[in-house]
Amino acid sequence: MTTPRWEARADLLVVGTGVAGLTAALRARELGLRVLVVTKAAGEDGNTRWAQGGVAVVLPGEHDEGDTVDAHVRDTLVAGAGLCDEAAVEAIIAGGPAAVARLRERGAVFDAAPTGGLARTREGGHSAFRVVHAGGDATGAEVERALLAAASDGRVPVLEQHVAVDAVRTPLGQVCGLLVLDGNGVPGVLSAPAVLLASGGLGQLYQATSNPEVATGDGLALALRAGALAADVEFVQFHPTVLYTGRGARGRCPLVTEAVRGEGAVLVDATGARVMRGVHPLEDLAPRDVVAAAITRHMAGAPGGVDDHVFLDATGISDFARRFPTVHAACLAAGVDPAGEPIPVAPAAHFACGGVVSAVDGRTGVTGLYAAGEVARTGLHGANRLASNSLLEGLVVGTRAAEAVAADLALGVLAKPSASAAVELPTAPVADRDSLQRVMSRYAAIGRDAEGLAVVGSVLDLSTVDRKLDGRQLVEDAALTVAARALIAAAAEREESRGCHVRTDFTERDDARWQRSQVVRLNPSGQPVLADPVVARGVA
Ligand code: SIN
Repeated sequence: MTTPRWEARADLLVVGTGVAGLTAALRARELGLRVLVVTKAAGEDGNTRWAQGGVAVVLPGEHDEGDTVDAHVRDTLVAGAGLCDEAAVEAIIAGGPAAVARLRERGAVFDAAPTGGLARTREGGHSAFRVVHAGGDATGAEVERALLAAASDGRVPVLEQHVAVDAVRTPLGQVCGLLVLDGNGVPGVLSAPAVLLASGGLGQLYQATSNPEVATGDGLALALRAGALAADVEFVQFHPTVLYTGRGARGRCPLVTEAVRGEGAVLVDATGARVMRGVHPLEDLAPRDVVAAAITRHMAGAPGGVDDHVFLDATGISDFARRFPTVHAACLAAGVDPAGEPIPVAPAAHFACGGVVSAVDGRTGVTGLYAAGEVARTGLHGANRLASNSLLEGLVVGTRAAEAVAADLALGVLAKPSASAAVELPTAPVADRDSLQRVMSRYAAIGRDAEGLAVVGSVLDLSTVDRKLDGRQLVEDAALTVAARALIAAAAEREESRGCHVRTDFTERDDARWQRSQVVRLNPSGQPVLADPVVARGVA
């Protein structure tokens, strides 16, 4: 039994300082709630700041001729390859204009068009120019800056370098706080009737990712241990173009935003042949899953054997350095001048389309537990997220989650923090991170088959030991272990190819059997298992 060595209270605990978490915290504060934001790193270390392309939104009076919210909904559904929840898509996309207006009121500055209004670009899967951006290709950084500034003005405290280990629950299973370790590994309890997970994704499951080091699936693991369900976890989106910096790249690789293709760049191979020609009617602006899979196939079939990258020819973009300063700087640092030569690129893990099953107001099936942003599975993304829909989702669902917490508090349906159960640091299976990343990259990335997924399972079996989660690295490694197990369970079962889930042994999409989501829960021994179809039907 661990006795917490420190304790603090709030009405709402928000885990994560990305767009969803900070938006929720600010809205909760406006509603008069005492909010505490917790992050295992520094406030600005989340995934949001790395987002480049922008926010997909159809603003009133500022859109391409004929573009509508309905068209944005349609593009999202097409990209999602038959697995989106249509009602969730409509609700979130329709909430976009108000969410962007609120963000601008909070101080975010978007790039202006020379003709007035906001500049708009286009990305894969979008039928119109509707992606608003900031700092050229630094949209996430601007959103993060504005929200952190508003949080410090708005007296929203941020507890940095504190990792959330587990939910504290009442004997009835309601969430009423968090068990947290401080930077020195000292445990403590944060008590609150509501906890919002906004902890981002799980790109660190793979050796190469566009995600920062913090993206280790902690929120997904915490939610599963608290009794929540997860869905669509087999759909991890690979971004088609991260900067290729040499064989065996590890960790966060610089993104080359899809907006570069939106503004005319094309994918070519070492011989100069177009990669996307004849693959999809939208060619280089096909949805992201299509482009990433086509590049992977192209590399595998390269003359003379397997290639590990292709090229993005952006030499036709005359003002590249001004329009894409972040990408330009990353290219120059890698010795590539995008004005004069094609940029070497390859796909890398980018975004978890699935996650904790949540409504569009962040409510999960567990009283007191809410989720928003990449950690959540609202049904917006289906089997493949439409580009630049994620900042949008964070803004809309973050706001609604705060409002849902306020409503639930007013209704008196949440637990009283004092009713908390005994608190103990959990013990959980922890795999060796290097082995996990190696086999996930080899067998559970783009192009999976039954045999390879079974190899992942065997390697995890061999490299996993039960450990008490008494440090940040152990919390992260345990989360990666649960996330990997959940992903391979769902990926092995789904005997078809759809969206980001590409099976080399089941190459076709099979709507008759598989136009449904799979739901994962933890069994009593802490292993992720697929929930039975009755539970899954309630979600899908
Ligand atoms: C990009 O700019 O290509 C990434 C944006 C996104 O993931 O939505």
